[in-house]
Amino acid sequence: GSSSSKNSSLPSILLAGPSGAGKTALLTLFEKRAGRSTSTSTDEKTEPAKTHTSQTPVSIKLNAAAPFSSSSSSSSSVSSPSENQPKRNFLLIDTPGHPKLRSTALSHLLPLDPKTGRPLPPSKSQPIKGVIFLLDASTLSPSSPDSSLSQAATYLYDLLLSLQHRYSRYTKGSKHPPSIPVLIAANKLDLFTALPATLVKKELEAELGRIRVSRSKGLLDSGVKEDDVTAGEKEEGDDWLGEYGSERFEFRQMVEFDIEVEVMGGSVLGNGGEEEGPGCEGWWRWVVERV
Ligand code: GTP
Ligand code: MG
Repeated sequence: GSSSSKNSSLPSILLAGPSGAGKTALLTLFEKRAGRSTSTSTDEKTEPAKTHTSQTPVSIKLNAAAPFSSSSSSSSSVSSPSENQPKRNFLLIDTPGHPKLRSTALSHLLPLDPKTGRPLPPSKSQPIKGVIFLLDASTLSPSSPDSSLSQAATYLYDLLLSLQHRYSRYTKGSKHPPSIPVLIAANKLDLFTALPATLVKKELEAELGRIRVSRSKGLLDSGVKEDDVTAGEKEEGDDWLGEYGSERFEFRQMVEFDIEVEVMGGSVLGNGGEEEGPGCEGWWRWVVERV
């Protein structure tokens, strides 16, 4: 209908990250705190299923000018924007984290022609203003029995590489595509096993550096078989993330490709009380500054 075509031209924030990170929980919380009741889900359900693994992308319309209350006790009257408030609507796009469904998120950043595998121009109708890469910081420690570090870093590597390719492939002369900043949101800091944001950053940088070396040596099979078309087009260093040839990977190397990366801790559960976790107001502020 007319409303959906209107929605699709709104500035958008992409929510990505591994399965179980809390993406759908975050979307639900943002909707409660700052949403307008108009949900624009792409499937028949209007409410995102909170505790189920997502299989389809769902987007909701939010207002960046809405007051964001950190207290869960404040009811819907607070979250609905008042009359004199300018509406700054934007879309939040939730994507599935399952490894087989990750192309859903990546195709927003680097659309590829399904037939040829060649990049298509970035969508003008749905301008992505930022990516929240959410992860579960409580299982990230490499020493934890079910460490999610390698899973999370693999996904993050592919995501950042997509943005790097977007920058290098869509640059015509001196004209670069609009930059897409990345917020690495370390979630579940309410749990005592959670790593603080500084450590999350350190562990991720180290793991991304390991992935980078493995892939350049061809030791690690990314699971994707390159067909002849893309293999023929591949240039040396095409799968290398960040500064080519550097010994250590650091997020600030992405600045060379006009990609700003920030790591910030928080928790979807808990509302800022000392024992309940730091909340997610910082993430909301990051979003509001970019839409
Ligand atoms: P996929 O849809 O599979 O990609 O996962 P998802 O990222 O959407 O995860 P989801 O929102 O379904 O959350 C997974 C589980 O983590 C749920 O049981 C949430 O209640 C829980 N969870 C989310 N945020 C937090 C948090 O801040 N702290 C704690 N302790 N649990 C959380
Ligand atoms: Mg989900």
